[in-house]
Amino acid sequence: MTIGLLIIGDITAEMRDRLAGYLDLHDAHRIDDMTGFLARRGDNIGYVLTDGHYGVPRDWMDAMPNLALISNYGVGYDAIDVGLSVSRGVLVTHTPEVLNDEVATTALMLMLASYRDLLASDSYVRAGRWAGDGQLNLSRSADNRRVGILGLGRIGLALARKLEPFHAEIAYHNRSPRDVPYQYYDDLVEMAAACEILFVVTPGGDDTRGLVDRAVLDALGPDGLLVNVSRGSVVDEAALVAALREGRLGGAGLDVFANEPHVPEALFGMTNVVLTPHIGSATVETRRAMGNLVVDNLLQHLADGRVISPVPECVDLARVAERFEA
Ligand code: 8YV
Repeated sequence: MTIGLLIIGDITAEMRDRLAGYLDLHDAHRIDDMTGFLARRGDNIGYVLTDGHYGVPRDWMDAMPNLALISNYGVGYDAIDVGLSVSRGVLVTHTPEVLNDEVATTALMLMLASYRDLLASDSYVRAGRWAGDGQLNLSRSADNRRVGILGLGRIGLALARKLEPFHAEIAYHNRSPRDVPYQYYDDLVEMAAACEILFVVTPGGDDTRGLVDRAVLDALGPDGLLVNVSRGSVVDEAALVAALREGRLGGAGLDVFANEPHVPEALFGMTNVVLTPHIGSATVETRRAMGNLVVDNLLQHLADGRVISPVPECVDLARVAERFEA
């Protein structure tokens, strides 16, 4: 009997086509009674494909005793209970590297749109006001800024490189310093006080929950800009809304939110925020690369038990293939 793959969330037609010949595909969102389905078919599910939003509910995990691998369609896997997976010998893979530049570009785009008032400019022209009302107010330059990067990992480094042509003075906060030509701060509030823009690119999860709190936002200050392309959970969202409303923070460019797809309505009326619906990696090209890696992990494992990009917690558990060879 063909092994079953439970798909949680949306995947592309290309991913579906590649998988269909090898695995028996079941889309969770098309199954009305998941408990009944898992009671009947749970034994046959060897693989789960999920993403950074959905993870795998605990009771579903319990009902799939032969689950071998969870392939995550994204680099962030905070929605997956990796401790539980490892304790059951279930591998977890994700999609690092292939989205670094795209997410960094999204962060840069939010910075540029914020400083140069892109949305107000666009509305001004569309409203037919240019001819009647003349020039728009001057915006602020995105060049020569003091920038702080919270989380100088793979995406943070790609962002730092993209900021260099803007002559940014770059600082970063990590748990420990790296061998890079940027200034290290071991204290996030101190870095925020020294910066004009704070980019949040650190992974989500319990370790980073609420890291950007009122003290950090106040340190960034009334002329400061917060850009978040990581996870909404890293920022205390209520504190952020209050800081923006009270003018204690200058502005924000936000691609991620605490309770997606719900966004605090208080943000909708603010002209000093730019809001995007978690599109950090959402281009045809990058989603193709991510999708291929998701599928490669599954098909490699099906062929010989190896995987290509295990999450760090699973490295000891996994046999790793350098590249797809199935
Ligand atoms: C995806 C992401 O939107 O990679 C991540 O961690 O947040 C995004 O690229 C998400 O995983 C859904 O596919």
